[in-house]
Amino acid sequence: MGQPLRLGIAGLGTVGTGVVKIVRQKANLLAARAGRPVEITAVCARSRDKDRGVNLSQYAWEDDPSTLAARDDVDVFIELMGGSDGPAKAATEAAIAAGKDVVTANKALLAHHGHALALAAEKAGAVIRFEAAVAGGIPVIKALTEGLAGNDITRVMGVMNGTCNYILTRMQSAGLPYVEVFEEANTLGFLEADPTLDVGGIDAGHKLALLASIAFGTQVDFDAVELEGIEQITIDDIHHAAGMGFRIKLLGVCQMTGRGLEQRMSPCLVPDDSPLGQLEGGTNMCVLEGDAIEQIVLRGPGAGEGPTASAVMGDVMDIARGMRIPTFGVPAATLSRAKPAKAVTPAPYYLRLALDDKPGALAKVATALGEAGVSIDRMRQTRHDETTAPVLIVTHKTTRAALDEALAHIAGLDVMAQSPVVLRIEKV
Ligand code: HSE
Repeated sequence: MGQPLRLGIAGLGTVGTGVVKIVRQKANLLAARAGRPVEITAVCARSRDKDRGVNLSQYAWEDDPSTLAARDDVDVFIELMGGSDGPAKAATEAAIAAGKDVVTANKALLAHHGHALALAAEKAGAVIRFEAAVAGGIPVIKALTEGLAGNDITRVMGVMNGTCNYILTRMQSAGLPYVEVFEEANTLGFLEADPTLDVGGIDAGHKLALLASIAFGTQVDFDAVELEGIEQITIDDIHHAAGMGFRIKLLGVCQMTGRGLEQRMSPCLVPDDSPLGQLEGGTNMCVLEGDAIEQIVLRGPGAGEGPTASAVMGDVMDIARGMRIPTFGVPAATLSRAKPAKAVTPAPYYLRLALDDKPGALAKVATALGEAGVSIDRMRQTRHDETTAPVLIVTHKTTRAALDEALAHIAGLDVMAQSPVVLRIEKV
């Protein structure tokens, strides 16, 4: 049996407590698999007195995560505090400066500072692992960096925020409006302390930026992610989309194109019989595409104590076994700065227009689309009230620029009672 691997854990919330439980309950299994004991030596959290349902008495307690990170008896600093800056960043930097390996679930920290931290870690001979930061328990980082290492990755897609998927699927199954389901999700404790992180697409955007870096060998560039949340999705759109064979998902897509790196996190329509379309509730899904593999689909729990602690322990076990893969799959100094794509890949679009119910309104819309080179695939006018007529249009594949040109023209025609709803239909 080799020397013990000694862990220092900062943050004893749901995930931290889950990690403590696994290390305590599976000591023999972990030691057998790693060829060395895996032990916790020190912990740190905001409150020392809180009852977390686990016995922490045998571990040293630190009030300051940076002090914990640099302790002589800590080999791996496990950062489970969260936050893109502040104590999480300071403690991670302290760990790296002390030459410690880092395991983190902190997507915000890495989305904003991942490249600098990776450079610092590699200079110090340390590794940073972050499986738990993306899609909870799904081993998507391992899949990209290890299992698919022989592929040119062509596209990565995913539903990576379980709360949004819960809200969208619950709206559909219960026929409830967004605000009601949002409140329900809040009551159930699904939402982050700042709900905008979830419903604004930011949390999922952080995850997408990390996957893009690994997939395309580029520096993490969260600011280049085109972000749109789910707050504007109505139950009407969910029903209309369903009537045409689609589901609405908060979908992340990244791909390298001739126009640069495209990174989008936005509500999209996907076919209801596709794996993404059938994804229900708080579950996550990652779809990875490469030249040799073609496509694989990974599905699993995106949050929660067990799944996230499982991902943390996967990283810990890699370190215990001596695996030292660079943070983003290649040495950080070799990651290129990707040019963000100025235009997204052409796609069909779903449009919902509330037209004034007067002669010629629909004809003017069709003409404006035609003049911009946007071809209509399907069109449906649904039941209308006394003054407005809801019109649904599915276009053929078109550029967003052509569509925007048509919509700008239509906006000036005085035929629309409300702003249009425009959702991309993603080929999955
Ligand atoms: N709030 C996230 C989700 C989990 O709902 O998927 C943490 O990233």
